[in-house]
Amino acid sequence: MKHFSVLLFGIFIVLTSSFLGLISSSLNQLGNLKQSTESLELNDAGEPTLVEGDPLYPMKLSGLSEQGHQEYIQLGCVNCHSQQVRREELGKDLERGFGQRVSVPRDYIMQSNVLLGFSRIGPDLSSVGARKNDINWHLLHLYNPQITSPGSLMPPFPFLFEAVEISETIATDNALVFPENSEYSPKEGIAIIPTKRAIALVEYLINLDINYNLPEAVVTKNDTGE
Ligand code: HEC
Repeated sequence: MKHFSVLLFGIFIVLTSSFLGLISSSLNQLGNLKQSTESLELNDAGEPTLVEGDPLYPMKLSGLSEQGHQEYIQLGCVNCHSQQVRREELGKDLERGFGQRVSVPRDYIMQSNVLLGFSRIGPDLSSVGARKNDINWHLLHLYNPQITSPGSLMPPFPFLFEAVEISETIATDNALVFPENSEYSPKEGIAIIPTKRAIALVEYLINLDINYNLPEAVVTKNDTGE
């Protein structure tokens, strides 16, 4: 093989250029995305610009939500839940009410870890905060999904809670409120208190909401998915 080194060089160039092409084309398309206001106005030069004073989307997670985001990762919620509302051609996500519009790359730019998910044993959570914003519901559901959703396949996370004896020295005002006559209610004199981990996780969940307009993705569905 007289020209083996030339062949090797050729293979190297082909592989490197396709790899760099892959990176640079996506960087070019997605690398410069910034937060945006819900609508844009045209400046004197006719270029679309942000509307001054309007809130910027997607919003950055608050400190507590960010902690909840880390809990979500540690507890493996991403194994069963996605966070991407797919286009109509790819599934019935909009019809199911997973969001009022499809997800776009800009939705993820403020996230420290993007949790698109790869399997949907449970519903998509992109906008779960808009569907369900009752903190007690989320806490009960995490403590034991059977309380709020009988027959659920979701595992319980009781270690995110503490069972304490009700006494004058322990504050129990943030104890879980169980439905009347629930078979999962604690014994008389015992209160179930969420730990900081549970509180952070629920703060994260109720803040998951992509039902805001972006220049490239306008809300098209109403609350009932119509
Ligand atoms: C083994 C799979 C599985 C895992 C792991 C799992 N879930 Fe679920 N989840 C489900 C299923 C199935 C449902 C639908 C039934 C229900 O409401 O419990 C669900 C429902 C939900 C809902 C209600 C969504 C809605 O639209 O009603 C929330 C919120 C939720 N899960 C959060 C979490 C969080 C947070 C974690 C991690 C701590 C988690 N899930 C881990 C399977 C899972």
